[in-house]
Amino acid sequence: MGIASLALLVGLAFSSLIAATYAGNFYQDFDLTWGGNRPKIFKGGQLLSLSLDIVSGSGFQSKKEYLFGRIDMQLKLVPGNSAGTVTAYYMSSQGPTHDEIDFEFLGNVSGDPYVLHTNVFTQGKGNREQQFYLWFDPSKNFHTYSIIWKPQHIIFLVDNTPIRAFKNAGKVGVPFPKSQPMRIYSSLWNADDWATRGGLVKTDWSKAPFTAYYRNFNVIDSKSSNSLSEWQTNELDAPSRRRLRWVQKYFMIYNYCTDLKRFPRGAPAECRRSF
Ligand SMILES: *[C@@H]1O[C@H](CO)[C@@H](O)[C@H](O)[C@H]1NC(C)=O
Repeated sequence: MGIASLALLVGLAFSSLIAATYAGNFYQDFDLTWGGNRPKIFKGGQLLSLSLDIVSGSGFQSKKEYLFGRIDMQLKLVPGNSAGTVTAYYMSSQGPTHDEIDFEFLGNVSGDPYVLHTNVFTQGKGNREQQFYLWFDPSKNFHTYSIIWKPQHIIFLVDNTPIRAFKNAGKVGVPFPKSQPMRIYSSLWNADDWATRGGLVKTDWSKAPFTAYYRNFNVIDSKSSNSLSEWQTNELDAPSRRRLRWVQKYFMIYNYCTDLKRFPRGAPAECRRSF
């Protein structure tokens, strides 16, 4: 068999695996929760948009809750001068001791890069920020942002490249999200008091409304048996670890683990390699 036909076969096997997982529909899977008529669903449920103007932002949330899983969504962020806008895309449980896994996209003036801000809350406590630049302009095209949440770890991915891994450090006493189911949330809102260069750059309301788009929502939850083999591989493989190191070396701009001013007595336990 030639390389081309082998590649085709592998491709077919792979696409049937993808097809076997759940492909979402925004009407069925999400509720538009705030912002009046600013959030919109189009194309029979295949496309969703959020918008922000001087009066209000907008948001949506999943109807279902998830306890572990892989969640994929494609986002196309506010283009042009998006300074002061924040597009938050996250999973969260409820209540004062909630767990949360966050992607937040901080807009910028035209030509300057977005910042991707990430955080993990356990038992109501966050303070675990890592920030990145992206290796593309996230407002030009759709890109896939994913969360893999397993009992062993949480992995953040951008176009399937892992950018952050938060390991379960229960052994050294760090709480890990493992019992509270989470919903998926997204919102587009104004945060020009802090978002762009620490609040120095204000939102240009003459460019409003600001709009972000969502498509291709997909969930593999721990119960979907057709993807069990993928689900059961626990660790990142060697190429994924290499790509994670590449992102952390060239694109990470802030890491709480190395912020000695904040943690003068040493980095939090989950930052250490030795468990
Ligand atoms: C915006 O661009 C400036 C200049 O390149 C950069 O320092 C900053 O991190 C960017 N992002 C935000 C959210 O301010």
